[in-house]
Amino acid sequence: MQLIQKGILAEETRLARYLTFSIDSNTDVNTALKILAENIDTNNTVIGLGQSLVNILGKEVVGLMTFDAQAGAGVEVPSTPTALWCWLRGNDRGELFHRSRQIETLLAPAFVLNDVVDTFQYDQNRDLSGYADGTENPEGDEAIQAAIVQDQGEGLDGGSFVAVQQWLHDFEAFDAMTTAEQDDAIGRYISDNEEFDSAPESAHVKRSAQENFEPEAFMLRRSMPWAESMEGGLMFVAFGHSFAAFEAIQNKMLGKDDGIVDALYSFTRPITGAYYWCPPIKAGKLDLSWLDI
Ligand code: HEM
Repeated sequence: MQLIQKGILAEETRLARYLTFSIDSNTDVNTALKILAENIDTNNTVIGLGQSLVNILGKEVVGLMTFDAQAGAGVEVPSTPTALWCWLRGNDRGELFHRSRQIETLLAPAFVLNDVVDTFQYDQNRDLSGYADGTENPEGDEAIQAAIVQDQGEGLDGGSFVAVQQWLHDFEAFDAMTTAEQDDAIGRYISDNEEFDSAPESAHVKRSAQENFEPEAFMLRRSMPWAESMEGGLMFVAFGHSFAAFEAIQNKMLGKDDGIVDALYSFTRPITGAYYWCPPIKAGKLDLSWLDI
């Protein structure tokens, strides 16, 4: 437990902020990462490193890869990789703002801020569609089994792999659906969050039922809603000991085996997609020893 970046397993905060950075390749990336590791508060910041960053350091993290763009019948899944991902957890927007400025300063000039997304809790655990999200998440030891790398050696154990996708909802399309159609798209009743057997095969929970995969495809989802002006959706964030569970479910959502596309796509679509490796913690600091930092 003490090896794991705390935020991965901790209780949700009311707010969060996601920062992504790209590399200014003419500068010293090692030093910037060292400064970051020495200074960030690992209790409320989760850090993920992208493939391009591990590459520029001349290292390899087995299991890390670049998120591939995908397509299903009529749906696109974009790939928007970045070098570094920071998940700032908190309950005060001002504090999150100042912490993000501090991180930007710590990382400059080697890393250039790419994007910032603010997220929040909606009625504790709802997606902006109104459906409760995270119900079937593994808990306790099962969350650790699903999300955390084990038995791979020092510098890797306690780490995790995270898939991050910003989804943009089409609220007009969603509002034009009847409640029964919305329930069919998710596979749960919005009224009481109960699953129902008569849901169509395209229902999201039928596509994503973790225990129906071989091997089982459990992941730890820590998604939160985002909204900016009049647009909004879900910042989907899922941790795994590898990307296998995410990819199995994504393939099923895209109908790769049976041609049936997840009904979620009728009112929402991903506009970003990236994979990161979240290193472990050692003595309360980010442990970058696998990268010789
Ligand atoms: C806008 C995008 C999405 C929305 C609004 C959404 C919403 C939901 C909702 C309402 C549930 C049912 C309650 C729960 O167990 O959490 C659910 C379940 C689930 N979703 Fe999603 N989801 C989205 C994208 C994804 C993606 C991209 C994946 C993975 C590739 C995924 C994986 C899962 C899994 C594993 C479950 C639990 C299924 C089970 O074992 O019963 N979701 N989602």
